[in-house]
Amino acid sequence: MASLSASPPKCMLHIPTTHDYLLHDLCLVPRNLSLMKQGSLRELRFVRSSNQTEPLIDSTDKLSDIPLLSCSEAMERLKQKRENQKGKQQFLAMYSSIFGGIVTDAGAMVIPMDDHMVHRGHGVFDTAAIMNGYLYELEQHIARIIRSASMAKIVLPYDHETIRRILVQTVSASKCTKGSLRYWISAGPGDFQLSPSGCHQPALYAIVIEDQSLFDSRGVKVVTSSVPIKHPLFATMKSVNYLPNVLSKMEAEEKGAYAAIWLDEDGFVAEGPNMNVAFVTKEKELLMPSFDKILSGCTAKRVLTLAEGLVRDGKLHGIRVDNVSVEEGKRADEMMLIGSGVLVRPVVQWDEQVIGNGEEGPITLTLLNFILEDMKSGPSSVRVPVPY
Ligand SMILES: Cc1ncc(COP(=O)(O)O)c(C=O)c1O
Repeated sequence: MASLSASPPKCMLHIPTTHDYLLHDLCLVPRNLSLMKQGSLRELRFVRSSNQTEPLIDSTDKLSDIPLLSCSEAMERLKQKRENQKGKQQFLAMYSSIFGGIVTDAGAMVIPMDDHMVHRGHGVFDTAAIMNGYLYELEQHIARIIRSASMAKIVLPYDHETIRRILVQTVSASKCTKGSLRYWISAGPGDFQLSPSGCHQPALYAIVIEDQSLFDSRGVKVVTSSVPIKHPLFATMKSVNYLPNVLSKMEAEEKGAYAAIWLDEDGFVAEGPNMNVAFVTKEKELLMPSFDKILSGCTAKRVLTLAEGLVRDGKLHGIRVDNVSVEEGKRADEMMLIGSGVLVRPVVQWDEQVIGNGEEGPITLTLLNFILEDMKSGPSSVRVPVPY
């Protein structure tokens, strides 16, 4: 049975609790479950998504077979489900301002149904990589989530300094030295209205995901996305509304590609579903689409800085952030995807067009090495040590 206490663990005592929720308020059992007993829910249907082979609910279940669970029973079932469904990623620790502490039991890594982020998408998020016990570009990612929160009109639950302290401590509690830290700021729980006016207090959630895999430098194929790009207002903030991004990624996978590339409303190259793009032109210029209508990628910005070394060495003739036409992109010598998840990934084909000579570009691979080196031994401005 999951043993959970509403009071924060000792190591967390100095982290403020913004909510006085008791854990049983987080119980996932709908409050009106008794309606089911009264027979308002007559029949359950199969629930099956495209990549699921087994239905989630057996339609032959009789209503009386659906148990009414206590909070601890629900938590125990969540824990069991997690243990039975271990995927490639391990979730090592979660912080929630709702219970004002960190949990390491994946079954307890839940967020309230009435959080405005869950039912209205009123939340923002960000991710920072963990490498050899350091958080890479944490400051830059915190600055971006704060910008995103402001664009989404969400008041910060804590100041910048406290957010950083909570995030670092969550990674510390997880003991994870390689993986990623993902965190959300939401309008918080309250009710199921469209307006957030009933939300008591904004919330902060963070999760540590272990990932021991090595970064892949093999060239990938991309396609042009037919899923419409987000309006610049939404594309420039990292909100949880990633349905277009998910559909775009699915479209790529259906076409045997790694990612689908968005073009902006004027037909210029924009970005991928969770990465920026860049090119090395025939004139040996590093060319990147400007950030005014897309997400300002922390990795892409770091690449721009690190690439200055290649200009000094004469390997690049210049660096340009500008509008990029599809035609210019497709005839480039090199194309790359850039982001916290992929770091720098060579692209060898875009739609039917082979990029350069069809092999991973040398400048792209050098930039990947620069980022990897930066993650391992870069300056303190990009590496925050985690005290384990
Ligand atoms: C839409 C989009 N563009 C670009 C990026 C790359 O940003 P970063 O390098 O900060 O991870 C991401 C990252 O998730 C993204 O979601």
